[in-house]
Amino acid sequence: MPKFIVFLGPPGAGKGTQAQLVAKEFDFPHISSGDIFRENIKNRTDLGLKAKGYMEQGDLVPDELTISMIQERLEREDCRDGAILDGFPRTPAQAKSLEKILADLGGQVNIVPFINVPEEVLVRRLSGRWICRAEGHVFHELHNPPKKAGICDYDGSELYQREDDEEETVKNRIKVYFQKTRPLIEYYQTAGLLKEIDGDKPINDVVEELKNVISQAI
Ligand code: AP5
Repeated sequence: MPKFIVFLGPPGAGKGTQAQLVAKEFDFPHISSGDIFRENIKNRTDLGLKAKGYMEQGDLVPDELTISMIQERLEREDCRDGAILDGFPRTPAQAKSLEKILADLGGQVNIVPFINVPEEVLVRRLSGRWICRAEGHVFHELHNPPKKAGICDYDGSELYQREDDEEETVKNRIKVYFQKTRPLIEYYQTAGLLKEIDGDKPINDVVEELKNVISQAI
């Protein structure tokens, strides 16, 4: 039966950083809804054009667009054993749709690590974040700097800062998280799937804790 892991947490909690590392360990694809939207914007697809305005404001892209995009991704061959989901679901409607999509694939959500980080830390993390253009590898100018400024350690591509990491947009993203995504904590707690992880620790410590809880659940 395919196994699915949902990473939950506010913007800047470290979902992407941890998901990249944990996906390698368990040999699962890492599916980031934000990365898929950014790829569509870069390629000027219909979906990208529809999503762009919402993302620039730090608002959520409407559920119907997001759900069909993720459904298409989960139906691909590389998810036959499971996947790590980063940034999806983000609303109760998305969570319910995910259950149905996974049931149709013969799978289910096995565990939901909730990476918890205090609000004041999030803004600092996002303002110092640098991302590689080729593969989306994530760095931080203080906590996780690249060996050479502006260049990705893994593939040598250029590093850039996301437009939605600008201060006002970050504030809105955090507000939207509290309004629309936080209810999922209770949703997954009730389902017995939530595992809270202290994300305000060094990256390697968080990864180790995640590997432990995930290996017990899959
Ligand atoms: P998305 O790309 O998913 O952004 P997000 O949820 O806001 O999360 P981030 O990617 O900003 O943070 P992260 O938790 O991955 O942190 P990271 O590992 O990079 O979504 C962007 C937009 O797309 C949304 O606003 C929305 O418009 C749209 N969207 C996406 N999904 C959607 C959905 N399901 N429905 C509707 N709309 C959707 O880490 C941050 C920084 O901290 C990095 O610099 C990193 O190096 C550093 N860091 C990480 N861990 C640590 C640590 N332990 N200690 C110190 N530094 C650390």
